[in-house]
Amino acid sequence: MIPDFTMKRKTKNARETKALAKQILKNHPKHKIWLLYGDLGAGKTTFVKGLGRALGLRESQIKSPTFTFVVEFEPLIHYDLYRLDALDDLTLELLNEHLATGKRVVIEWPEKIERHLTLPHLKIRFSHEGGDQRSIEIS
Ligand SMILES: Nc1ncnc2c1ncn2[C@@H]1O[C@H](COP(=O)(O)OP(=O)(O)O)[C@@H](O)[C@H]1O
Ligand SMILES: [Mg+2]
Repeated sequence: MIPDFTMKRKTKNARETKALAKQILKNHPKHKIWLLYGDLGAGKTTFVKGLGRALGLRESQIKSPTFTFVVEFEPLIHYDLYRLDALDDLTLELLNEHLATGKRVVIEWPEKIERHLTLPHLKIRFSHEGGDQRSIEIS
């Protein structure tokens, strides 16, 4: 399938990645579901920090959860499915409830749930480009 649009950006530090999140929020206010792909350390959580800040949260509130895979804030629901081995019915039910709220939902490691996702969403792919450089592709 040919995406409606695709945009590729390079960032050279964490600050630029956070600023990019804010810019994407501004450009896509109606897109509530963001899937964040990319290896460990590629910048997904850093990006969510920038998004959280743009939505009025403190950056320190956004972190990679260790004992849970989802953290819910007023303006934002943050999933990190890295440690989820199997998608059980209960987890899927919770996800569907969250998606139905109409709140912004961002999902790190979305490979684990993408086949169940029927709602429109943005895909954002993060890659290491050496040192502190990252490329970030939105489609
Ligand atoms: N251009 C950049 N964009 C995002 N993070 C960067 C960048 N350059 C360096 N970093 C650092 O890389 C790390 C990215 O970690 P994190 O955001 O937790 O990645 P992920 O959630 O993808 O595993 C952070 O320590 C961040 O400060
Ligand atoms: Mg992360």
